[in-house]
Amino acid sequence: MISKLHKSSLKETFFRAFSQCRAKTLALFEGVDEATFCCQPHPDFSPIGWHLGHIAYTESLWLLERSAGLPCLFPRYRKLFAADGLPKKERVKLPNLEEIRYYLDTVREKVLHYLEVADVEQQERLWRFILQHESQHSEIISFVLELGKQQRGQGKQGRQGGQGEIFSLVSPPAHDLSEMIQIPAGEFEMGDGSVDALDNEQPLHRAYLETYWIDRYPVTCAQYRVFMAAQGYQNPRWWSKVGWEWLQTEQVTQPLYWCENPMWDHHPVCGVSWYEAEAYSRFVGKRLPTEAEWEKAASWDAQAHCRRIYPWGNEEPTLKHCNHDNFIGKTTPVDAFSIGQSFYGLYDALGNVWEWTASWFDGYPGFQSYPYVGYSQVYFDQQHRVLKGASWATRPWALRCSFRNWYHPCVRQILAGFRCAAD
Ligand code: AVJ
Ligand code: FE
Repeated sequence: MISKLHKSSLKETFFRAFSQCRAKTLALFEGVDEATFCCQPHPDFSPIGWHLGHIAYTESLWLLERSAGLPCLFPRYRKLFAADGLPKKERVKLPNLEEIRYYLDTVREKVLHYLEVADVEQQERLWRFILQHESQHSEIISFVLELGKQQRGQGKQGRQGGQGEIFSLVSPPAHDLSEMIQIPAGEFEMGDGSVDALDNEQPLHRAYLETYWIDRYPVTCAQYRVFMAAQGYQNPRWWSKVGWEWLQTEQVTQPLYWCENPMWDHHPVCGVSWYEAEAYSRFVGKRLPTEAEWEKAASWDAQAHCRRIYPWGNEEPTLKHCNHDNFIGKTTPVDAFSIGQSFYGLYDALGNVWEWTASWFDGYPGFQSYPYVGYSQVYFDQQHRVLKGASWATRPWALRCSFRNWYHPCVRQILAGFRCAAD
């Protein structure tokens, strides 16, 4: 009885989470000028103002139109803010922040009214989807802002000082950052069958892996510098055929968020394409982990024979567990979060940077699309690689070991690094 009194209802949970998530999204727009709002710093990414309008559009479509049965609130925004509306390059002519805020607020007001009468127990999966949808766009807004800063010369290169500096003393790390962990052969559980899981995480299933090794830490800038100094970007030996072709076209010589300052030595390398991750792995005589290898090392508790939602267990993430939610606003040294270790001892599995895996994005056996085919299924095309973990900008509602992210292997604008594996 007492526990029931203290347990808040699902409606209250959603009310609180939706409000918190929105506040975090809007905080990203503080001090942002008109040019930044509408600018598209890379052809693969829409302006941050578009993402904001798209958040309102998606919430309105699924909760007001499809669930509450209301008519479309702002039909003139449909073409502009639908994911399948305009090509990305035509998403730069936008209403201003004030107008988009009016759109967001109007939709939200109706959503909260609907929440009072809706059967949320029946619709729990949809409400959780919408919350995670905004969380993901909130993170992408951080990607685009970071990219803009980099292009204006205010990125890592030009940055000194700041809140995260306590992590950045250039003392040698207390740990051997090149250490690998042996993961014994055996079965584990992969994916997530809970109501929180997105379609691509389901169904939860058992998988078997032979013994393998995986890096305890993500690859650091200091480690990556060895590859660069050894002319790694000039030597086709380390690159796959497709990777080398990509390199010849792009002519890059360092990660997107590279900085020579040794202050970043023990931070994870950030802003690499899948091809660069692949080349580095070959250079050190290793390989990228498969998605299954990554997930077992991050989430399997071999003693209790059960999977964990987070590497450290099922306790909800806070600032002490890992670098996420824009708390710090940049990377941290890979050994900074010992409390966040997995059962096997992996550091930084969640947070800091996304990690490329060797796997193509595909559906698990028995996959069923939700809430629409275009969410995951259209990307099961052997053109997208899975990234696991999360970045320093990932919101808590999208933070878990089973979460799967996916991008084309040439993408470098997503706060991505990697760790290596070996047989
Ligand atoms: C999972 C980040 C690749 O941005 O295309 C947002 C997330 N899907 N709205 C994307 C998503 C629909 C998705 N990623
Ligand atoms: Fe979306």
